[in-house]
Amino acid sequence: MVNFPILRPRRLRNNKLIRDLVAETSISEKDLVLPIFIKEDIITPEKIESMPGVLRYPPDDSLIKYVEESYSNGIRYFILFGVPKYKDDIASSAYDKNGIIQKSVRLLKETFDDKIIVITDECTDEYTSHGHCGIVKSIKNSYYVDNDESLKIHAKIALSQAEAGSDVIAPSSMMDGVVGAIRKELDNAGFQNTLIMSYSAKYASTFYSPFREAAYSKPAFGDRKSYQMDPRNSEEAIKEVALDIEEGADIIMVKPAHTYLDVISLVKNSFPEYPLAAYHVSGEYSMIKAAALNGWIDERIAVLEITTAIKRAGANLILTYYANEIAKWLKEEM
Ligand code: PBG
Repeated sequence: MVNFPILRPRRLRNNKLIRDLVAETSISEKDLVLPIFIKEDIITPEKIESMPGVLRYPPDDSLIKYVEESYSNGIRYFILFGVPKYKDDIASSAYDKNGIIQKSVRLLKETFDDKIIVITDECTDEYTSHGHCGIVKSIKNSYYVDNDESLKIHAKIALSQAEAGSDVIAPSSMMDGVVGAIRKELDNAGFQNTLIMSYSAKYASTFYSPFREAAYSKPAFGDRKSYQMDPRNSEEAIKEVALDIEEGADIIMVKPAHTYLDVISLVKNSFPEYPLAAYHVSGEYSMIKAAALNGWIDERIAVLEITTAIKRAGANLILTYYANEIAKWLKEEM
C-alpha cells in the first residue's frame, strides 16, 4: 500500500464541487414518499400534537391543495392512511366502497390522474375497535390475532382499494401469507397491474407511538409483539422478505428506518434485485422535530444527513413525513 505523502484522502474533500463529484450517495425528491392522514368528518385540517408540522386532512379541497403544493415541490408519491369515524371488530369501514380511503383515492386519481402514484396502507388497526392488525379471537381470558381469518379481511380491503384506483397496495399487518392472499385476490379480479409494496420486515417498535395518536390506532389491549418482528433479530428479516417475494411482493420494506440501518443493509445485500423501501417513522420524525424546536439541532442538516444515511444503507425509496421539506432543501442546495 502506497502511503502518506502520496495518498491524501483529504484531496477529495478540498471543496464542495469536488465532494459532490465523488459522492457515493445522493437523494432526490423522486426517492420520497409522503404519508398523508385523511380523516372523516372534519372540515379543516387538524394538528397532531405529537407530530408538529403534520396535519390530518379532510377528503376535500384542502387535501387536493396539499397534494398540489407537494407536487409543485416535486413530490410524486403519496401513501394514504385513513382515520374513519366508524370502527367495529371486523374493520368493515376499511373495505366500504365509500370508506375514507376509497373516497380519497377516487378524489386524488380523478384530480391528478397519472401525474401521481397513490399508495394505500392496507391494515385494520385504524378501523377496528380493538386496534389490532387483524381479527381478534379469545380463548378463556386471553386474546390472540387469528392469522388465517385475518387474511380474508386483508384481501377484501386490498381489493376495495384497488377498485377505488389505488396504484400500490401496501399491506402492513405482518400476517403470515398476507401478500399471497392479496396477490391472488387482485389477480382474480383483474388487477394484475396493481403493485404490492409489502411492509416485509416491520418491527414491534415504540417509534410508532405518534402515528398511533395521529391515526387513533393504539391497541385497546395487549401489544403487537405476536405479529411484528422482535427488535433483537436481523437475520429473521431475510426470511420475512424471502416469503413476501415468493408470494408476489413487487417492493419490499424495512420499518422503522433510522433505527434499523443494519437491517436495510442486510436486506439490500441479500435481495439486491428487489426495490427496497424504508419507512422513517413517526417517532423518528418527532424526535428530530422536538430537538429542532428546542434549538438543539439544525433540522435541515439533521434531516438531510439521516435521509442520506437511510439511502446509503441501501434503501431505494424512503417514506418520510419530511418529504416536502427535503424536496425544498434539495432545491436550495443546488
Ligand atoms: C399500520 C401502520 C402503522 C404504521 C404504518 N402502518 C402503525 C402500527 O403498526 O402500529 C406506523 C407508521 C409510523 O409510525 O409513522 N396501519
